[in-house]
Amino acid sequence: MAKDTSDCPSPAQAPVLLTVCTTCRRDGVDPEAPRPGALLLQALSGTDLPQGVSVRGVECLSACKRGCAMILSGGATRWSYIYGDLDPDQHLAEILEGAAAYAATEDGLVPWRERPQVFRKQSIARIPPAPLPDDSPSQE
Ligand code: FES
Repeated sequence: MAKDTSDCPSPAQAPVLLTVCTTCRRDGVDPEAPRPGALLLQALSGTDLPQGVSVRGVECLSACKRGCAMILSGGATRWSYIYGDLDPDQHLAEILEGAAAYAATEDGLVPWRERPQVFRKQSIARIPPAPLPDDSPSQE
């Protein structure tokens, strides 16, 4: 029997989420100044995000030595990415560009040359999509 997927968004329409750590410190930044991640979250929240993209803040992504850090994720079929060493003064436009390209994919895999430099050079890790119902565990 075929599954009814009429209420499910197509993978390229699944919401994309930017999750920004608001508590990271950065080398060379005054410890009493607002945290760079809080500034990045504020900048992203105050701009026109690409269609289907939203943003939220969290406290700590366990990438503290690479702050400020952010996750790019989007639904059950897309790869997720963790980026670090982000600078809210330098990387806002590239993050928006990269999020738009990511949102246009079904699997989260934007061709390397089409990724903004910050996404090419400052990726900490990528995380595979959640298993699909048709996935079967490998037998080894
Ligand atoms: S405080 Fe930002 S990743 Fe830990």
